[in-house]
Amino acid sequence: RKHLQNLQETTLALIKPDAIQQMGQIINSVHCNGFVIKQLRMCQLTTQDAQTFYKAHSGKPFYGALTTFMSSGPCVAMELVAEDAIKRWRLLLGPTCTEKAKVIAPSSLRAQFGTDGTKNACHGSDSTETAKLELAFFFVDRTLGSCARMRNCTLC
Ligand code: TYD
Repeated sequence: RKHLQNLQETTLALIKPDAIQQMGQIINSVHCNGFVIKQLRMCQLTTQDAQTFYKAHSGKPFYGALTTFMSSGPCVAMELVAEDAIKRWRLLLGPTCTEKAKVIAPSSLRAQFGTDGTKNACHGSDSTETAKLELAFFFVDRTLGSCARMRNCTLC
């Protein structure tokens, strides 16, 4: 029977700075929707970190506003595990633009907790390849007890 089960997938979920005060409700949704949190950390990105994270969008008209916003306060990063996690987390997020999310997916996280087309509450990786890269960006492989640090961490 076990071999018939679909493989568990992992994705990188972020609670963005505009929704950080709603992190309790968002984490509750994570659990209620069947995701398991494998790793979690809260951190504030530098502008440079945000530029690196969103480098696929560099040159687009919203890149400056996006990277300024993403470095304006703390984020919560989570490694989520579930069957079909990438697609299911993005479905829970709803459309990129909060105003659109409110119309077509009113129970989505972006509709409930987002602000506008840039400040949209949460992030989710869009493919297995980006999930791997984005998880490596926020979490490093580590042995128990060592620091799960950003690449530019100067604390230890
Ligand atoms: P994108 O990867 O297109 O969307 P998603 O987050 O749903 O995968 O865009 C990345 C982020 O860039 C998006 O969450 C918010 C910001 N953004 C804007 O500020 N303006 C825009 O017009 C778009 C398309 C995105």
